[in-house]
Amino acid sequence: MPVGRERQVGIAKDLFTAMGIAREDAARRQDWVLRGFRQFDAPVSLVLTCDRALDGGAVCHFDLGALFYGIVLAAWDRGLGTVINGQGIMRSDIVREVARIPAEEVIMTCVAMGWPDEEFAANGVKARREGVGEFARFVGFEG
Ligand SMILES: Cc1cc2nc3c(=O)[nH]c(=O)nc-3n(C[C@H](O)[C@H](O)[C@H](O)COP(=O)(O)O)c2cc1C
Repeated sequence: MPVGRERQVGIAKDLFTAMGIAREDAARRQDWVLRGFRQFDAPVSLVLTCDRALDGGAVCHFDLGALFYGIVLAAWDRGLGTVINGQGIMRSDIVREVARIPAEEVIMTCVAMGWPDEEFAANGVKARREGVGEFARFVGFEG
């Protein structure tokens, strides 16, 4: 199993353990999946779009990623919690209808946002990180 997949399984196990969701509890497992579509029950979902004329250019996608990263950091700085939520736009047809997004805009991703609930067990789970040396190569800093 590739390392990335192992870590995904690891975080899923940690989350389900914290939430007390048993492997055989199909209903609660399903509800956990649906939470992503429900924007994690957050009061706000920001939907990031770009003009269709700009789509297809990597620069535009890069810029939008940087913009959303900035929004996420600014939100956290003000005590708000955020989840960049790719799953939240998988049913982009529904998102488009509910958020009244015109056809000439391409839906890129969304961010769930709200005041963090520290009592919610899953929020206490900490992701295990790869060491920086596992994915970055430093050239010219040896010895
Ligand atoms: C582009 C992108 C898409 C993401 N999509 C999802 C998603 O659909 N569902 C989810 O639970 N987390 C998603 N995440 C992860 C969360 O936004 C967040 O980065 C992660 O929970 C951070 O947790 P950590 O700091 O504990 O690792 C996505 C992150 C990125 C950068």
